[in-house]
Amino acid sequence: MLAKWLLNSDYTVVLTGAGMSTESGLPDFRSAQNGLWQKKNPQQLASTHALEHHRDEFISFYQYRIRTLQQCQPHAGHALLAEWEKRGMIQSIITQNVDGFHQRAGSENVIELHGSLRSVHCQRCHQVYESDIYLRDDFTCTCGGFLRPSVVLFGESLSMDAMEKAWLAAQQAKLFIVLGSSLQVSPANQLPLIAKRNGSKLVIVNMEPTELDEWADIVIHERKIGDVLQEINKELQKERR
Ligand code: APR
Repeated sequence: MLAKWLLNSDYTVVLTGAGMSTESGLPDFRSAQNGLWQKKNPQQLASTHALEHHRDEFISFYQYRIRTLQQCQPHAGHALLAEWEKRGMIQSIITQNVDGFHQRAGSENVIELHGSLRSVHCQRCHQVYESDIYLRDDFTCTCGGFLRPSVVLFGESLSMDAMEKAWLAAQQAKLFIVLGSSLQVSPANQLPLIAKRNGSKLVIVNMEPTELDEWADIVIHERKIGDVLQEINKELQKERR
């Protein structure tokens, strides 16, 4: 059914969360098993408060995330989404992830709602650097300012540009597919509802139940995203014959 919906939709939007990258080896945040926030307090580590008042913990948390990111890469599911975009079956990917895996897999129209861990920037002059500078224990800009990851921290608002693009995509969607998000973080979790309100079909693929399952036309739990996407791709190949 999902393959048919993909083929028949003239505007498909995919919203991805951390569950899209666990099969690449990156832990997510709220999985009951090894979600990062099961063991650590995000406010202590990934917030404006941590940036200002727990600088050492903030730095070592992001050194850990940047190092882990460097050891991982996009998986076959990211590649399938990029292929479907090239075939005109996906118009936009909105991601809460900061790993850049959609772009590395070849997706072009990617809206990064929560920024990117591929770079850090100076708090004072906003000069941008590759984030691996953090792995050389170097956190100081040439101007003397502190270098912070270019991600949206708890306590910060999203970029207006990313919000506008994401809202527009959700309003235009005829098919809105959520992949690997608990949908607990606003404003990203408003997007499926905006799509639904504008007449879109809503599909949620997530290992565990989410906050918006009751609004979805199709809900797929307890299945890995990579397997679900491979299965849809097999259906698509049958349809094409
Ligand atoms: N297949 C399907 N679902 C999966 C898989 C998988 N391979 N791996 C994990 N999941 C599901 C988990 O069950 C979980 O419900 O993905 C979901 C990920 O949810 P979260 O960890 O809450 O991640 P996300 O929704 O992206 O969090 C949003 O919170 O901490 C902030 O900025 C951070 O962008 C993040 C935001």
